[in-house]
Amino acid sequence: MKDAKIIDGKAVAAGLRARVAAKVASFKADNGKAPGLAVVLVGEDPASQVYVRNKNKQTAAAGMRSFEHTVPAATSQAELLSLVGRLNDDPDVHGILVQLPLPPQIDPNQVIDAIDPAKDVDGLHVVNAGRLATGRRELAMAPCTPLGCLMLLRECLGELSGRHAVMLGRSNLVGKPMVQLLLWENCTVTVAHSRSGDLPALCRQGDVLVAAVGKPELVRGDWIKPGAAVIDVGINRLPDPTPEKPERTRLVGDVAYAEALAVAGAITPVPGGVGPMTIACLLANTLNAACRQSGLPDAIEI
Ligand code: GUN
Repeated sequence: MKDAKIIDGKAVAAGLRARVAAKVASFKADNGKAPGLAVVLVGEDPASQVYVRNKNKQTAAAGMRSFEHTVPAATSQAELLSLVGRLNDDPDVHGILVQLPLPPQIDPNQVIDAIDPAKDVDGLHVVNAGRLATGRRELAMAPCTPLGCLMLLRECLGELSGRHAVMLGRSNLVGKPMVQLLLWENCTVTVAHSRSGDLPALCRQGDVLVAAVGKPELVRGDWIKPGAAVIDVGINRLPDPTPEKPERTRLVGDVAYAEALAVAGAITPVPGGVGPMTIACLLANTLNAACRQSGLPDAIEI
């Protein structure tokens, strides 16, 4: 069998960002102001700093306003809730994202609960999770990573209806909302997770396999149904020392890529697959949130 098609997340994300930028320009022309995204970073986690910097850069590149709020790691929960409250009340802010994880003195659920669901561009508020689960497509705000996965699947498979999708992982950020999006597309969905028996056999059932467990190269080639579309959400850093650079690391996904390439029909690489789609979907959610807050229909159909 020939090697799997490599799904080019960078290219699909660039296309989505260009569509968002074009619609932002007409939103600005019609409404006199640009959509605004506020990103809150608590502390100095280096990986989070990189994400937040990229989010701010790409928000500005799409013609939107970017409001960055970096607060010290020692910020109290009350202080953070008060900041979220101010952002909820600010008419220039259409979307709010509080970067996770948060320091231990802060309960992330309390913070997410405090975000106005209309501005919850991360799609994590229980109101948005409920809308997603009950099929309220016109109101729901779906989390960005699963949304990006869905767009990549549509791009490579077209119609998803009737396909058997296996979701490996059940997190609130990816697994659970991904299940809802796959059901929207009329897939038959199996959820597999760390307590499931015989993971390889479960995964092998999938015409579509989405892996989001944060375990480097857990999914081996023989876990994959020949010809399946494989979406790898994992971003894991493994030591990869050389004599010159003992500190060197490399990024791997949750799927053993070289093995999967020989079995799958299509696969996302790490990096360059799901990663670039996440921020592009955040921009799309922010633009749609701004449209809804102005009484307009969504600019980007999800
Ligand atoms: N940290 C890693 N991924 C995400 C995400 O999608 N949203 C938020 N808020 N924090 C994250």
